[in-house]
Amino acid sequence: MDCDFLVIGSGIAGLSFALKCAELGTVVVVTKKKDVDTATNLAQGGIAAVLEGNDSVAAHVGDTILSGAGLCDEAVVRLVVESGPDRIAELVAYGVDFVRDQATSSGYSLGREGGHSHRRVAHAYDLTGREIERALLEKVREHSQIHMYEEHVVVDLLLAEGEIEGWKGQNGKMCVGAYVMEGGKVKPYRAKMTVLCTGGAGKVYLYTTNPDIATGDGIAMAFRAGASVQNMEFVQFHPTCLFHPLEKNFLISEAVRGEGGVLVGIDGVPFMGKYDERKDLATRDTVARAIDRELKETGEDCVFLDISHREPEYLKKRFPTIYKKCLSRGIDITKDKIPVVPAAHYVCGGVKTDTLGRSTVPGLLVLGETACTGLHGGNRLASNSLLEAVVFAHRAAKYCTRIWPVLKEEERGPVDAWISGNARKLSEEILINHNWDSIRRLMWNYVGIVRSMERLALARKRMEFICAEIDQHYRKYIVTPNMVELRNISQVAMLIIQSAMQRKESRGLHYLIEYPGKTEQARQTVVRKKNDGLTREIEILEGKNNE
Ligand code: SIN
Repeated sequence: MDCDFLVIGSGIAGLSFALKCAELGTVVVVTKKKDVDTATNLAQGGIAAVLEGNDSVAAHVGDTILSGAGLCDEAVVRLVVESGPDRIAELVAYGVDFVRDQATSSGYSLGREGGHSHRRVAHAYDLTGREIERALLEKVREHSQIHMYEEHVVVDLLLAEGEIEGWKGQNGKMCVGAYVMEGGKVKPYRAKMTVLCTGGAGKVYLYTTNPDIATGDGIAMAFRAGASVQNMEFVQFHPTCLFHPLEKNFLISEAVRGEGGVLVGIDGVPFMGKYDERKDLATRDTVARAIDRELKETGEDCVFLDISHREPEYLKKRFPTIYKKCLSRGIDITKDKIPVVPAAHYVCGGVKTDTLGRSTVPGLLVLGETACTGLHGGNRLASNSLLEAVVFAHRAAKYCTRIWPVLKEEERGPVDAWISGNARKLSEEILINHNWDSIRRLMWNYVGIVRSMERLALARKRMEFICAEIDQHYRKYIVTPNMVELRNISQVAMLIIQSAMQRKESRGLHYLIEYPGKTEQARQTVVRKKNDGLTREIEILEGKNNE
Protein backbone atom coordinates (compact mmCIF):
# COMPACT_ATOMS: atom_id res chain seq x y z
CA MET A 1 0.00 0.00 0.00
CA ASP A 2 1.47 3.35 -1.02
CA CYS A 3 -0.05 6.73 -0.30
CA ASP A 4 1.01 10.32 0.17
CA PHE A 5 -0.40 10.79 3.68
CA LEU A 6 -0.99 7.95 6.13
CA VAL A 7 -3.24 9.13 8.95
CA ILE A 8 -3.47 6.77 11.93
CA GLY A 9 -6.65 7.52 13.89
CA SER A 10 -10.07 8.89 12.93
CA GLY A 11 -10.88 11.50 15.59
CA ILE A 12 -11.11 15.27 15.14
CA ALA A 13 -7.34 15.73 14.59
CA GLY A 14 -6.96 13.00 11.97
CA LEU A 15 -10.10 13.82 10.03
CA SER A 16 -9.47 17.56 9.88
CA PHE A 17 -5.86 16.97 8.77
CA ALA A 18 -7.06 14.46 6.15
CA LEU A 19 -9.58 16.91 4.70
CA LYS A 20 -6.93 19.57 4.28
CA CYS A 21 -4.16 17.37 2.85
CA ALA A 22 -6.50 15.54 0.48
CA GLU A 23 -6.17 18.67 -1.65
CA LEU A 24 -2.47 17.77 -2.08
CA GLY A 25 -2.42 14.01 -2.57
CA THR A 26 -3.88 10.67 -1.60
CA VAL A 27 -4.77 10.16 2.05
CA VAL A 28 -5.19 6.80 3.73
CA VAL A 29 -6.86 6.89 7.16
CA VAL A 30 -6.53 3.70 9.18
CA THR A 31 -8.45 3.08 12.35
CA LYS A 32 -8.32 -0.01 14.50
CA LYS A 33 -12.08 -0.32 15.15
CA LYS A 34 -14.93 1.53 13.47
CA ASP A 35 -14.43 5.09 12.21
CA VAL A 36 -16.56 6.57 15.02
CA ASP A 37 -14.78 4.69 17.83
CA THR A 38 -12.82 7.73 18.98
CA ALA A 39 -12.45 9.85 22.09
CA THR A 40 -13.76 12.78 20.03
CA ASN A 41 -17.07 10.99 19.64
CA LEU A 42 -17.48 10.80 23.44
CA ALA A 43 -16.50 14.41 24.17
CA GLN A 44 -19.43 16.10 25.86
CA GLY A 45 -18.34 19.57 26.99
CA GLY A 46 -17.25 21.34 23.82
CA ILE A 47 -14.53 23.47 22.31
CA ALA A 48 -13.21 26.56 24.06
CA ALA A 49 -12.60 29.78 22.10
CA VAL A 50 -12.80 33.51 22.58
CA LEU A 51 -16.09 34.31 20.88
CA GLU A 52 -17.76 36.95 23.04
CA GLY A 53 -16.98 40.67 23.20
CA ASN A 54 -16.57 40.59 26.98
CA ASP A 55 -13.98 37.78 26.73
CA SER A 56 -10.40 38.25 25.49
CA VAL A 57 -7.40 36.34 24.18
CA ALA A 58 -5.49 37.52 27.26
CA ALA A 59 -8.14 36.00 29.57
CA HIS A 60 -8.19 32.63 27.78
CA VAL A 61 -4.37 32.57 27.66
CA GLY A 62 -4.25 33.50 31.36
CA ASP A 63 -6.74 30.76 32.38
CA THR A 64 -4.83 28.13 30.37
CA ILE A 65 -1.50 29.12 31.90
CA LEU A 66 -2.90 29.22 35.43
CA SER A 67 -4.33 25.75 34.99
CA GLY A 68 -1.06 24.47 33.48
CA ALA A 69 0.85 25.03 36.76
CA GLY A 70 3.91 26.75 35.28
CA LEU A 71 4.55 24.27 32.48
CA CYS A 72 2.62 25.73 29.53
CA ASP A 73 4.57 27.12 26.60
CA GLU A 74 3.18 30.64 26.50
CA ALA A 75 3.84 31.15 22.77
CA VAL A 76 1.95 27.93 21.99
CA VAL A 77 -0.95 28.91 24.25
CA ARG A 78 -1.22 32.24 22.50
CA LEU A 79 -1.15 30.84 18.98
CA VAL A 80 -3.77 28.22 19.85
CA VAL A 81 -6.11 30.72 21.54
CA GLU A 82 -5.71 33.29 18.75
CA SER A 83 -6.57 30.68 16.13
CA GLY A 84 -9.71 29.53 18.03
CA PRO A 85 -12.42 31.66 16.34
CA ASP A 86 -11.18 30.79 12.81
CA ARG A 87 -11.13 27.08 13.56
CA ILE A 88 -14.66 27.23 15.00
CA ALA A 89 -15.84 29.03 11.83
CA GLU A 90 -14.18 26.29 9.78
CA LEU A 91 -15.97 23.55 11.74
CA VAL A 92 -19.24 25.35 11.14
CA ALA A 93 -18.39 25.47 7.42
CA TYR A 94 -17.83 21.69 7.55
CA GLY A 95 -21.38 21.41 8.85
CA VAL A 96 -20.96 21.27 12.65
CA ASP A 97 -24.16 22.50 14.24
CA PHE A 98 -23.16 24.29 17.44
CA VAL A 99 -26.05 25.44 19.61
CA ARG A 100 -27.01 29.08 18.92
CA ASP A 101 -28.24 31.76 21.27
CA GLN A 102 -29.63 35.04 19.96
CA ALA A 103 -28.92 36.71 23.30
CA THR A 104 -25.10 36.52 22.88
CA SER A 105 -23.04 38.85 20.68
CA SER A 106 -21.41 35.86 18.93
CA GLY A 107 -24.72 34.13 18.35
CA TYR A 108 -23.36 30.95 20.02
CA SER A 109 -24.64 29.45 23.25
CA LEU A 110 -21.49 29.29 25.36
CA GLY A 111 -20.92 26.92 28.25
CA ARG A 112 -18.70 27.38 31.27
CA GLU A 113 -16.31 24.85 32.82
CA GLY A 114 -13.78 24.65 35.65
CA GLY A 115 -10.85 27.08 35.47
CA HIS A 116 -12.49 29.34 32.84
CA SER A 117 -13.05 32.95 33.87
CA HIS A 118 -15.65 33.41 31.08
CA ARG A 119 -18.32 31.48 29.27
CA ARG A 120 -16.45 30.38 26.14
CA VAL A 121 -17.25 26.74 25.39
CA ALA A 122 -19.08 26.26 22.06
CA HIS A 123 -21.15 23.10 22.31
CA ALA A 124 -23.82 20.90 20.81
CA TYR A 125 -25.52 20.29 24.17
CA ASP A 126 -23.71 17.31 25.73
CA LEU A 127 -23.12 15.66 22.34
CA THR A 128 -20.47 18.05 21.02
CA GLY A 129 -17.89 15.41 20.07
CA ARG A 130 -20.48 13.28 18.33
CA GLU A 131 -21.67 16.26 16.30
CA ILE A 132 -18.12 17.19 15.25
CA GLU A 133 -17.27 13.58 14.36
CA ARG A 134 -20.50 13.27 12.35
CA ALA A 135 -19.82 16.38 10.29
CA LEU A 136 -16.15 15.56 9.62
CA LEU A 137 -16.87 11.93 8.74
CA GLU A 138 -19.53 13.01 6.28
CA LYS A 139 -17.01 15.26 4.51
CA VAL A 140 -14.29 12.59 4.60
CA ARG A 141 -16.57 9.90 3.19
CA GLU A 142 -17.49 12.02 0.22
CA HIS A 143 -13.87 12.97 -0.64
CA SER A 144 -12.46 10.93 -3.51
CA GLN A 145 -8.82 11.33 -2.36
CA ILE A 146 -9.43 9.96 1.15
CA HIS A 147 -9.62 6.23 1.75
CA MET A 148 -10.73 5.07 5.18
CA TYR A 149 -9.85 1.56 6.38
CA GLU A 150 -11.57 0.31 9.51
CA GLU A 151 -10.42 -2.65 11.65
CA HIS A 152 -6.81 -2.00 10.60
CA VAL A 153 -4.40 -2.15 13.53
CA VAL A 154 -1.06 -0.39 13.27
CA VAL A 155 1.67 -2.52 14.79
CA ASP A 156 4.71 -0.26 14.45
CA LEU A 157 6.10 2.61 12.45
CA LEU A 158 8.32 2.01 9.42
CA LEU A 159 11.74 3.63 9.58
CA ALA A 160 14.35 4.15 6.88
CA GLU A 161 17.53 6.17 6.38
CA GLY A 162 16.77 9.76 5.39
CA GLU A 163 15.55 13.17 6.41
CA ILE A 164 13.32 15.99 5.24
CA GLU A 165 14.83 19.36 4.44
CA GLY A 166 14.84 21.45 7.59
CA TRP A 167 13.70 18.52 9.74
CA LYS A 168 16.52 16.25 10.93
CA GLY A 169 16.26 13.22 13.18
CA GLN A 170 18.69 12.08 15.85
CA ASN A 171 20.21 9.09 14.06
CA GLY A 172 19.62 9.70 10.38
CA LYS A 173 16.34 7.77 10.47
CA MET A 174 12.95 8.96 9.27
CA CYS A 175 9.43 7.58 9.32
CA VAL A 176 8.20 6.25 5.96
CA GLY A 177 4.89 4.69 6.96
CA ALA A 178 3.75 1.88 9.22
CA TYR A 179 3.20 -1.85 9.50
CA VAL A 180 -0.55 -2.36 9.43
CA MET A 181 -2.46 -5.51 10.39
CA GLU A 182 -5.51 -6.29 8.29
CA GLY A 183 -7.40 -9.53 8.72
CA GLY A 184 -4.55 -11.14 10.67
CA LYS A 185 -1.84 -10.23 8.11
CA VAL A 186 0.73 -7.48 8.70
CA LYS A 187 1.68 -5.39 5.66
CA PRO A 188 3.88 -2.33 5.15
CA TYR A 189 2.00 0.86 4.22
CA ARG A 190 4.43 3.38 2.75
CA ALA A 191 3.72 7.10 2.96
CA LYS A 192 5.43 10.39 2.27
CA MET A 193 4.09 11.71 5.56
CA THR A 194 2.77 9.70 8.50
CA VAL A 195 0.44 11.27 11.03
CA LEU A 196 -0.20 9.78 14.45
CA CYS A 197 -3.45 10.82 16.07
CA THR A 198 -4.55 7.76 18.00
CA GLY A 199 -5.90 9.66 21.02
CA GLY A 200 -4.91 9.03 24.61
CA ALA A 201 -4.21 6.18 26.96
CA GLY A 202 -6.99 6.09 29.56
CA LYS A 203 -7.11 2.29 29.35
CA VAL A 204 -3.80 2.21 31.23
CA TYR A 205 -5.98 2.77 34.31
CA LEU A 206 -8.67 0.56 35.78
CA TYR A 207 -11.27 3.34 35.69
CA THR A 208 -11.43 5.72 32.76
CA THR A 209 -13.86 7.89 30.83
CA ASN A 210 -12.09 6.90 27.58
CA PRO A 211 -13.33 4.56 24.88
CA ASP A 212 -11.75 1.09 24.57
CA ILE A 213 -9.45 2.24 21.77
CA ALA A 214 -7.47 4.52 24.15
CA THR A 215 -4.48 2.23 24.65
CA GLY A 216 -1.74 4.78 24.01
CA ASP A 217 -0.83 3.23 20.65
CA GLY A 218 0.55 6.39 19.10
CA ILE A 219 2.70 7.34 22.08
CA ALA A 220 4.09 3.80 22.39
CA MET A 221 4.85 3.48 18.67
CA ALA A 222 6.50 6.89 18.43
CA PHE A 223 8.61 6.12 21.51
CA ARG A 224 9.73 2.81 20.01
CA ALA A 225 10.63 4.69 16.83
CA GLY A 226 12.95 6.95 18.87
CA ALA A 227 10.71 10.03 19.24
CA SER A 228 11.04 12.24 22.32
CA VAL A 229 8.13 11.93 24.72
CA GLN A 230 7.27 14.71 27.15
CA ASN A 231 5.55 15.11 30.55
CA MET A 232 3.99 11.66 30.74
CA GLU A 233 3.54 11.98 34.52
CA PHE A 234 0.64 14.40 33.94
CA VAL A 235 -2.47 12.26 33.63
CA GLN A 236 -5.72 14.12 34.09
CA PHE A 237 -8.43 12.45 36.13
CA HIS A 238 -11.88 13.77 35.33
CA PRO A 239 -13.62 14.45 38.65
CA THR A 240 -17.03 13.16 37.62
CA CYS A 241 -17.43 9.77 35.99
CA LEU A 242 -20.80 8.09 36.64
CA PHE A 243 -20.47 5.57 39.50
CA HIS A 244 -22.65 2.60 38.65
CA PRO A 245 -21.79 -1.11 38.49
CA LEU A 246 -23.10 -1.42 34.93
CA GLU A 247 -21.41 1.68 33.52
CA LYS A 248 -17.70 1.54 32.83
CA ASN A 249 -16.84 4.93 31.31
CA PHE A 250 -19.77 7.32 31.27
CA LEU A 251 -18.73 10.93 31.80
CA ILE A 252 -20.82 13.51 33.62
CA SER A 253 -19.64 16.65 31.84
CA GLU A 254 -17.93 19.42 33.73
CA ALA A 255 -20.52 21.65 32.05
CA VAL A 256 -22.97 20.31 34.68
CA ARG A 257 -20.92 22.09 37.34
CA GLY A 258 -20.67 25.05 34.96
CA GLU A 259 -24.46 25.28 35.04
CA GLY A 260 -24.62 25.17 38.84
CA GLY A 261 -24.02 21.51 39.79
CA VAL A 262 -22.57 21.11 43.29
CA LEU A 263 -20.43 18.28 44.63
CA VAL A 264 -21.71 16.90 47.93
CA GLY A 265 -20.87 14.01 50.24
CA ILE A 266 -23.27 11.21 51.17
CA ASP A 267 -24.58 13.59 53.89
CA GLY A 268 -25.60 16.09 51.20
CA VAL A 269 -23.09 18.69 52.40
CA PRO A 270 -21.07 20.56 49.72
CA PHE A 271 -17.34 20.10 50.28
CA MET A 272 -15.44 22.00 47.56
CA GLY A 273 -15.40 25.21 49.64
CA LYS A 274 -12.89 23.48 51.98
CA TYR A 275 -10.42 23.05 49.13
CA ASP A 276 -10.58 26.06 46.81
CA GLU A 277 -12.24 29.45 46.73
CA ARG A 278 -13.51 28.70 43.20
CA LYS A 279 -15.37 25.77 44.80
CA ASP A 280 -16.92 23.44 42.19
CA LEU A 281 -15.39 25.43 39.34
CA ALA A 282 -11.80 25.00 40.49
CA THR A 283 -9.46 23.35 37.95
CA ARG A 284 -9.68 19.58 37.50
CA ASP A 285 -6.51 18.66 39.38
CA THR A 286 -7.88 20.39 42.49
CA VAL A 287 -11.40 18.95 42.21
CA ALA A 288 -10.23 15.36 41.53
CA ARG A 289 -7.81 15.49 44.47
CA ALA A 290 -10.51 16.91 46.74
CA ILE A 291 -12.85 14.03 45.85
CA ASP A 292 -10.03 11.53 46.40
CA ARG A 293 -9.46 13.06 49.87
CA GLU A 294 -13.20 12.95 50.72
CA LEU A 295 -13.43 9.29 49.66
CA LYS A 296 -10.38 8.34 51.70
CA GLU A 297 -11.63 10.21 54.79
CA THR A 298 -15.22 8.94 54.69
CA GLY A 299 -14.49 5.46 53.34
CA GLU A 300 -17.41 5.89 50.92
CA ASP A 301 -17.33 4.56 47.35
CA CYS A 302 -18.44 7.77 45.64
CA VAL A 303 -19.47 11.39 46.10
CA PHE A 304 -22.53 13.02 44.50
CA LEU A 305 -23.18 15.78 42.00
CA ASP A 306 -26.39 17.68 42.63
CA ILE A 307 -28.02 19.81 39.93
CA SER A 308 -31.61 19.04 40.95
CA HIS A 309 -32.23 22.71 41.88
CA ARG A 310 -32.30 23.65 38.14
CA GLU A 311 -35.53 23.56 36.11
CA PRO A 312 -36.27 19.98 34.94
CA GLU A 313 -37.08 21.10 31.39
CA TYR A 314 -33.81 23.05 31.17
CA LEU A 315 -31.79 20.03 32.34
CA LYS A 316 -33.45 17.69 29.87
CA LYS A 317 -32.68 20.06 27.00
CA ARG A 318 -29.15 21.09 28.02
CA PHE A 319 -27.96 17.59 29.01
CA PRO A 320 -30.03 15.14 26.97
CA THR A 321 -27.44 12.34 26.94
CA ILE A 322 -26.63 12.58 30.63
CA TYR A 323 -30.32 12.79 31.52
CA LYS A 324 -31.21 9.69 29.50
CA LYS A 325 -28.22 7.63 30.56
CA CYS A 326 -28.75 8.37 34.25
CA LEU A 327 -32.48 7.69 33.96
CA SER A 328 -31.73 4.32 32.37
CA ARG A 329 -29.82 3.52 35.57
CA GLY A 330 -32.61 4.69 37.86
CA ILE A 331 -31.17 8.16 38.55
CA ASP A 332 -33.42 11.11 37.67
CA ILE A 333 -31.02 14.07 37.59
CA THR A 334 -33.93 16.52 37.93
CA LYS A 335 -34.57 15.06 41.41
CA ASP A 336 -31.67 12.80 42.42
CA LYS A 337 -28.03 13.37 43.19
CA ILE A 338 -25.70 11.72 40.66
CA PRO A 339 -23.14 9.28 42.15
CA VAL A 340 -19.69 10.11 40.72
CA VAL A 341 -16.00 9.17 41.07
CA PRO A 342 -12.85 10.49 39.38
CA ALA A 343 -11.50 8.44 36.45
CA ALA A 344 -8.52 8.72 34.09
CA HIS A 345 -9.54 11.08 31.31
CA TYR A 346 -6.70 12.72 29.43
CA VAL A 347 -2.92 12.39 29.02
CA CYS A 348 -1.48 15.90 29.12
CA GLY A 349 1.94 14.59 28.09
CA GLY A 350 2.66 12.76 24.85
CA VAL A 351 4.94 12.80 21.85
CA LYS A 352 6.88 16.06 21.89
CA THR A 353 6.03 18.22 18.89
CA ASP A 354 6.90 21.67 17.61
CA THR A 355 4.42 24.33 16.55
CA LEU A 356 3.90 22.55 13.20
CA GLY A 357 3.00 19.22 14.78
CA ARG A 358 6.41 17.73 13.92
CA SER A 359 7.84 15.08 16.23
CA THR A 360 11.59 14.59 16.61
CA VAL A 361 11.41 11.85 13.94
CA PRO A 362 11.31 13.35 10.41
CA GLY A 363 8.25 12.29 8.44
CA LEU A 364 6.21 11.76 11.61
CA LEU A 365 3.58 14.34 12.54
CA VAL A 366 1.71 13.85 15.80
CA LEU A 367 -1.62 15.52 16.59
CA GLY A 368 -4.35 15.64 19.22
CA GLU A 369 -4.06 13.91 22.57
CA THR A 370 -1.15 11.78 21.29
CA ALA A 371 1.00 14.92 21.09
CA CYS A 372 2.52 17.14 23.76
CA THR A 373 2.53 20.57 22.13
CA GLY A 374 3.14 22.66 25.23
CA LEU A 375 -0.47 23.90 25.44
CA HIS A 376 -1.66 21.99 28.50
CA GLY A 377 1.41 22.08 30.76
CA GLY A 378 0.80 20.24 34.01
CA ASN A 379 -3.00 20.31 33.85
CA ARG A 380 -5.20 20.80 30.79
CA LEU A 381 -7.89 23.45 30.98
CA ALA A 382 -11.31 21.94 30.21
CA SER A 383 -12.40 21.99 26.55
CA ASN A 384 -8.97 23.09 25.29
CA SER A 385 -8.23 19.72 23.70
CA LEU A 386 -10.62 19.74 20.72
CA LEU A 387 -9.30 23.24 20.07
CA GLU A 388 -5.68 22.05 20.20
CA ALA A 389 -6.51 19.21 17.81
CA VAL A 390 -7.98 21.46 15.09
CA VAL A 391 -5.38 24.19 15.47
CA PHE A 392 -2.44 21.79 15.12
CA ALA A 393 -4.11 19.80 12.33
CA HIS A 394 -4.39 23.12 10.48
CA ARG A 395 -0.78 24.10 11.17
CA ALA A 396 0.56 20.67 10.20
CA ALA A 397 -1.47 20.74 6.97
CA LYS A 398 -0.12 24.20 6.15
CA TYR A 399 3.41 22.90 6.71
CA CYS A 400 2.72 19.96 4.37
CA THR A 401 1.36 22.35 1.74
CA ARG A 402 4.52 24.41 1.98
CA ILE A 403 6.93 21.49 1.53
CA TRP A 404 4.69 19.54 -0.87
CA PRO A 405 6.43 20.59 -4.11
CA VAL A 406 9.64 18.93 -2.84
CA LEU A 407 8.03 16.11 -0.86
CA LYS A 408 5.88 14.87 -3.69
CA GLU A 409 8.92 14.28 -5.91
CA GLU A 410 10.76 12.25 -3.31
CA GLU A 411 10.94 8.51 -3.86
CA ARG A 412 10.63 6.20 -0.88
CA GLY A 413 12.90 3.17 -1.14
CA PRO A 414 11.69 -0.41 -0.69
CA VAL A 415 10.82 -1.47 2.85
CA ASP A 416 11.11 -4.85 4.52
CA ALA A 417 8.09 -7.13 4.56
CA TRP A 418 6.86 -8.14 8.03
CA ILE A 419 8.57 -11.35 9.12
CA SER A 420 6.79 -13.66 11.55
CA GLY A 421 9.71 -16.17 11.59
CA ASN A 422 9.03 -19.14 13.83
CA ALA A 423 6.28 -17.38 15.76
CA ARG A 424 3.41 -19.64 16.85
CA LYS A 425 -0.26 -18.92 17.28
CA LEU A 426 -1.11 -17.87 20.82
CA SER A 427 -3.49 -20.52 22.10
CA GLU A 428 -4.28 -19.05 25.54
CA GLU A 429 -5.79 -15.57 25.60
CA ILE A 430 -5.43 -15.58 29.41
CA LEU A 431 -1.73 -14.74 28.89
CA ILE A 432 -2.88 -11.39 27.52
CA ASN A 433 -5.88 -10.75 29.76
CA HIS A 434 -4.03 -11.39 33.01
CA ASN A 435 -1.28 -8.87 32.27
CA TRP A 436 -3.81 -6.37 30.95
CA ASP A 437 -5.74 -6.53 34.19
CA SER A 438 -2.59 -6.44 36.36
CA ILE A 439 -1.31 -3.28 34.66
CA ARG A 440 -4.59 -1.40 34.98
CA ARG A 441 -5.00 -2.26 38.67
CA LEU A 442 -1.37 -1.52 39.44
CA MET A 443 -1.59 1.88 37.77
CA TRP A 444 -4.86 2.73 39.53
CA ASN A 445 -3.62 1.74 42.97
CA TYR A 446 0.02 2.85 42.77
CA VAL A 447 0.22 5.60 40.15
CA GLY A 448 -3.16 7.35 40.57
CA ILE A 449 -4.33 10.77 41.71
CA VAL A 450 -2.13 10.91 44.80
CA ARG A 451 1.27 9.23 44.50
CA SER A 452 4.19 8.31 46.74
CA MET A 453 7.81 7.53 45.82
CA GLU A 454 7.50 4.18 47.54
CA ARG A 455 4.47 3.13 45.48
CA LEU A 456 6.07 4.44 42.28
CA ALA A 457 9.20 2.39 42.92
CA LEU A 458 7.12 -0.73 43.58
CA ALA A 459 5.10 -0.09 40.43
CA ARG A 460 8.26 0.22 38.37
CA LYS A 461 9.63 -3.05 39.74
CA ARG A 462 6.42 -4.91 38.89
CA MET A 463 6.16 -3.32 35.48
CA GLU A 464 9.76 -4.41 34.67
CA PHE A 465 8.65 -7.97 35.15
CA ILE A 466 5.38 -7.60 33.23
CA CYS A 467 7.08 -5.78 30.33
CA ALA A 468 9.75 -8.50 30.05
CA GLU A 469 7.03 -11.13 29.82
CA ILE A 470 5.10 -9.14 27.20
CA ASP A 471 8.28 -8.67 25.11
CA GLN A 472 8.86 -12.40 25.23
CA HIS A 473 5.29 -13.16 24.12
CA TYR A 474 5.62 -10.61 21.35
CA ARG A 475 8.64 -12.45 19.94
CA LYS A 476 7.26 -15.94 20.46
CA TYR A 477 3.69 -15.67 19.19
CA ILE A 478 2.06 -14.44 16.00
CA VAL A 479 1.04 -10.88 16.67
CA THR A 480 -2.68 -10.21 17.31
CA PRO A 481 -4.60 -6.93 17.91
CA ASN A 482 -4.85 -7.71 21.64
CA MET A 483 -1.14 -8.34 21.86
CA VAL A 484 -0.41 -5.04 20.10
CA GLU A 485 -2.62 -3.12 22.54
CA LEU A 486 -1.19 -4.87 25.59
CA ARG A 487 2.35 -4.08 24.47
CA ASN A 488 1.36 -0.46 23.97
CA ILE A 489 -0.35 0.03 27.33
CA SER A 490 2.60 -1.60 29.10
CA GLN A 491 4.96 0.80 27.33
CA VAL A 492 2.85 3.84 28.22
CA ALA A 493 2.38 2.68 31.84
CA MET A 494 6.14 2.39 32.15
CA LEU A 495 6.64 5.87 30.66
CA ILE A 496 4.17 7.37 33.16
CA ILE A 497 5.97 5.72 36.07
CA GLN A 498 9.46 6.56 34.83
CA SER A 499 8.53 10.20 34.21
CA ALA A 500 6.71 10.50 37.55
CA MET A 501 9.82 9.26 39.35
CA GLN A 502 11.84 12.13 37.87
CA ARG A 503 9.51 14.75 39.32
CA LYS A 504 10.19 15.17 43.03
CA GLU A 505 7.58 17.83 43.63
CA SER A 506 3.81 18.31 43.44
CA ARG A 507 2.69 20.32 40.45
CA GLY A 508 -0.54 20.30 38.47
CA LEU A 509 -1.81 16.77 38.11
CA HIS A 510 1.26 15.15 39.66
CA TYR A 511 0.90 15.01 43.45
CA LEU A 512 3.60 13.30 45.50
CA ILE A 513 2.96 12.78 49.21
CA GLU A 514 6.63 13.16 50.17
CA TYR A 515 6.99 16.43 48.18
CA PRO A 516 3.71 18.35 48.60
CA GLY A 517 5.05 21.69 47.26
CA LYS A 518 6.33 22.97 43.94
CA THR A 519 10.06 23.33 43.25
CA GLU A 520 11.21 26.84 42.42
CA GLN A 521 12.17 26.03 38.86
CA ALA A 522 9.44 24.58 36.64
CA ARG A 523 10.86 22.02 34.21
CA GLN A 524 9.56 19.62 31.60
CA THR A 525 10.29 15.90 31.63
CA VAL A 526 11.55 14.74 28.22
CA VAL A 527 12.64 11.17 27.56
CA ARG A 528 13.37 8.90 24.62
CA LYS A 529 14.21 5.25 24.10
CA LYS A 530 17.79 4.41 24.92
CA ASN A 531 19.69 3.72 21.72
CA ASP A 532 19.83 -0.05 21.22
CA GLY A 533 18.40 -0.55 24.68
CA LEU A 534 15.37 -2.63 25.63
CA THR A 535 12.14 -0.94 24.54
CA ARG A 536 11.48 0.06 28.16
CA GLU A 537 14.87 1.66 28.81
CA ILE A 538 14.84 5.44 28.70
CA GLU A 539 17.33 8.20 28.22
CA ILE A 540 16.33 11.34 30.13
CA LEU A 541 16.85 14.41 27.95
CA GLU A 542 15.29 17.02 30.24
CA GLY A 543 14.05 17.10 33.82
CA LYS A 544 16.40 14.50 35.26
CA ASN A 545 16.03 14.07 38.97
CA ASN A 546 19.62 14.39 40.19
CA GLU A 547 19.13 13.28 43.80
C1 SIN B 1 -16.34 17.43 29.99
O1 SIN B 1 -17.35 17.59 29.33
O2 SIN B 1 -16.31 17.56 31.21
C2 SIN B 1 -15.08 17.05 29.28
C3 SIN B 1 -14.53 18.21 28.59
C4 SIN B 1 -13.04 18.07 28.48
O3 SIN B 1 -12.47 17.06 28.92
O4 SIN B 1 -12.41 19.01 28.01
